Amino acid sequence: MEEAVKKACEMERQRAYSTQVSLLQEIYSSGWTEWRDMPGGQLVQDLIEWDDGIMRDNRDQPWFPKFFANPYVWNGEVSSEQLRQIELSHFSSLTVNGPTSVFSSTKAYLDGNRELSELSNWWTLDEQTHEEMHHYQVTKHFGFSEEQLFAVADKKLMELKNEKVRQIDKNMMRTLNKFLALRDGPAILVGVMMLIERENPWTNQNSAKAYKKHYGFTDDELVLTNVHTYIDIFHSRLGQYVIGRYARTAEEQELVRAFYMSQKQKQMENSKVYLDSLFHGKKLEVSLDGNIG
Ligand SMILES: [Fe+2]
Ligand SMILES: [Fe+2]
Repeated sequence: MEEAVKKACEMERQRAYSTQVSLLQEIYSSGWTEWRDMPGGQLVQDLIEWDDGIMRDNRDQPWFPKFFANPYVWNGEVSSEQLRQIELSHFSSLTVNGPTSVFSSTKAYLDGNRELSELSNWWTLDEQTHEEMHHYQVTKHFGFSEEQLFAVADKKLMELKNEKVRQIDKNMMRTLNKFLALRDGPAILVGVMMLIERENPWTNQNSAKAYKKHYGFTDDELVLTNVHTYIDIFHSRLGQYVIGRYARTAEEQELVRAFYMSQKQKQMENSKVYLDSLFHGKKLEVSLDGNIG
C-alpha cells in the first residue's frame, strides 16, 4: 500500500511538470515582456494605454472605478450598514460571474487548445479560492448567513442561465453580460477578464486601509482584500499572455477590444447608478458586471 501511494505521488508530480507550471513561472517572472512580440501584442498595448487613459480621466471621481471600491468607501463616507449592502451585492456578483471562466476552459479544450484550457483552469481555481475568502470575510465581519448570501446570488444566476444562446459579435458587447459573453463567446474572451484585473492591486491597497480605519475590520477579516493587493499583478500578466498569443485574426482582436472596453465602461456606469441608489434609496435595476475581483 505504501509503495502504491508513493508511486501515485510520483506520477502526480510528473504530471505537474508536464502541465503549464513552467509557462506560468515564466509569465510570472520579474520583467516578463514577451507578450509584446506575440500576434496580439499590439492589441494588449492598446488596451493598457486605453485603460491608463480611463484612469487618468476619472481618478478624481468619487464613484471610480467600481461600486465596491471607490473614494466614498475609502474616505469612510458610506455607513457600516451601506458597506454591508455593498458587500452583499459584491458577493452575489462574484459568485455568479466568477466561475464563468469554466466555459472558456471547456471551449479551449474542445478546440484542442490544451494550453489555453489549463491557463483558464488555473485562473478559475485561484478565483474560486478568492470566492471562499470573500465568503469568510462577509460572514465573519457582517454576520450574513449562508442562506442570505446564496439567495441573492441564486436569483441572479437563474435569470442569466435561462437567457437564450446567442451568436456573439463585437456590436453586441455594449449590452452583453459577462456571464453570457463567456458562455456563448470564444475561449479567448477569458484573457479580457484576466487583463482587466490590472486595477485591483491599487484598489485593494486603498480598501484594506479603509476597512481597518473606518469600518473596524480585523487583520483576520481582511484576507480577501490583502491577497488582492498583489495577486492581480500576476493575473493581469496571464491576460497579457492569453490575448497576446491567441487574439490573432482581425475578427478576434475586434471582439477582444470591444469586450474589454464595454466591460470597463459598464463597470463605471454601474458604479454611478449603484452608489446613487445607495445614497438616495432608489430601487437598483442594473446587473453588476465588469471586474469584480
Ligand atoms: Fe484575479
Ligand atoms: Fe481574485
